[in-house]
Amino acid sequence: MAEKQDAIALLKADHRKVEDLFEQFEKASGEGRKQKIALEICLELTVHAQIEEEIFYPACEGKVEEDLLKEAYVEHDGAKVLIAEIEAGAPSDDFYDAKVKVLSEQIEHHVEEEEKRMEGMFSQARHAGLDMDALGDQLRARKEELIANYKTNGLTKPETTTLTEATV
Ligand SMILES: [Fe+2]
Ligand SMILES: [Fe+2]
Repeated sequence: MAEKQDAIALLKADHRKVEDLFEQFEKASGEGRKQKIALEICLELTVHAQIEEEIFYPACEGKVEEDLLKEAYVEHDGAKVLIAEIEAGAPSDDFYDAKVKVLSEQIEHHVEEEEKRMEGMFSQARHAGLDMDALGDQLRARKEELIANYKTNGLTKPETTTLTEATV
């Protein structure tokens, strides 16, 4: 059996998966195919942001630069706005491809902030001595639960954490 992933390995694997899906979207033709990939991206990102916000980010509190952590929450919320738009839209919409593209660019930046060597969030958390094995178990369990839930009940509009009502 493969070794269990620790928290950072699990979160990085999610990042790689979603990058691959964005690439697939760029190459895809046909509205049905594009929508299927886009919705998969929305599901993956929604679950990923949720497990980070419920489990990983709170564990980073006090261990990682506060500004970096706060910006990460706001970046998630920016992505959630586009995710909600993409979920509610269709590939025939005027701005559909543009929304997916801009989402991919925002995610690319966000992933860089998490994964950057030395000063990135994951690196800071690792150096602060967080128990990545225990966090990995928690993230994996919650991820499985959320995916099962979304597969049964469908995607729901992701809840933002930092935005005020006026903007969402
Ligand atoms: Fe992440
Ligand atoms: Fe994140």
